[in-house]
Amino acid sequence: MAEFLTHNSMFAQDSFAQTLAQDLLETYGSPLYVYEGDRLCHTLHHITQAFEYPHTHFHFASVTNGNVALLQMIRGAGWGLHANTPGDVFLGLTAGFHPDQIVYSGSNLNAVEMQQLRDWGVTTLNLDSLSQLELCCKIYAASTASIDPDGLRLGLRLNVPELTGESRIGVRPEELPAAIALTHQWGLCLTGVHFYRGTGTNATQAFTQVIDRVIAIAQTLPDWRYLDFGGGFGYPYRHGGAAFDWPAFGAEMTQALQTLNRPTERPIELIIEPGRAAIAGCATLLTRVVSVKWQGDRQIVGTDTTVANLSVPSVHGGYREIRALSPSHTSTLYSTDVCGNTTYSRDYLGRQCPLPQLEIGDILAILDVGAYGYAMSSHFLHRPRPAEVLLEGSSHRLIRQREDYQVLIRNQIFV
Ligand SMILES: Cc1ncc(COP(=O)(O)O)c(C=O)c1O
Repeated sequence: MAEFLTHNSMFAQDSFAQTLAQDLLETYGSPLYVYEGDRLCHTLHHITQAFEYPHTHFHFASVTNGNVALLQMIRGAGWGLHANTPGDVFLGLTAGFHPDQIVYSGSNLNAVEMQQLRDWGVTTLNLDSLSQLELCCKIYAASTASIDPDGLRLGLRLNVPELTGESRIGVRPEELPAAIALTHQWGLCLTGVHFYRGTGTNATQAFTQVIDRVIAIAQTLPDWRYLDFGGGFGYPYRHGGAAFDWPAFGAEMTQALQTLNRPTERPIELIIEPGRAAIAGCATLLTRVVSVKWQGDRQIVGTDTTVANLSVPSVHGGYREIRALSPSHTSTLYSTDVCGNTTYSRDYLGRQCPLPQLEIGDILAILDVGAYGYAMSSHFLHRPRPAEVLLEGSSHRLIRQREDYQVLIRNQIFV
């Protein structure tokens, strides 16, 4: 079942992909981020249906991808939004999410930013420290005018080294009594716990094994109302690699929450915040070959994109499959370094990729770039960013303009 989520991109299938890629690059230029709308919808559905527990809410982590047209699709699928920063909230509101559909689980806001979340009407906040909790209580208690205190969900992010590993995030369980007292001082209640273990975990047991312990910690809250498992669910970038098993995780979560003995209380709400797993496989970066040279039997290919357009693989580690989508290839494959269009020494989109002999003008497809792709692109190396296009059935539309050089001097002050 996990295979359903991976390597089914249109650009992983040779025949159709080539014509489509050609058409898209002629229409919108190169390099180009291409999102497959149907695939996004299927992935969201696959994750959603893995949870039979009826009080489950899914919140897409827009840290991975903040394109508003995509966020609108995600909202249309019935998901909410997880905000890491006030910027995520702003993007979410722009995409039409109601403030109640936005869960803030982040770190280190100043008072102005916390007030901003309050003014925007965000009602679920998972805080990272007691001092952030105090700031939040102070601001929210001072102005509960348009927020029903009963609708306010305040939680703490957990730091349990044996579960979360070495992490800067969260508070220790022994801090919970002080946190409970603090919220009560402000006439509020601590109602949730949030569990997050770093990003990109494909081992399903890393999540299933901690469920009981996280629930046991949550049960120490007298006003416990929700559990938030926020993000970190992996995506198998390598063909045949281990994939996160959503049905297994969903079944175990359901079982654990349905067997809680709370006959007279309202059911616990479950919040899930997938980012990478929801959107990684839905996008491809198309790029054209601009230079080919050989060093012995190694092919060195220059492309018209760069790690500043897709910083993840060579700057932050990791791997993305690269495929050649071109007409006249022989079946022989050569070890190929796929390089960006700068002289930055780490400007590799891929190293030692098995690719056919390439020619200038050939199209390469860099797969699985939907998460932390465009979102982590930058103006480092002073290349304007690519355009983004959405495929919907047999049609396509531009969802972000290609930048031009003006972007490099915007906001600069000079005479
Ligand atoms: C609280 C929280 N939830 C969800 C996510 C999304 O993580 P992932 O893309 O690994 O699912 C993040 C990422 O930073 C996060 O901090």
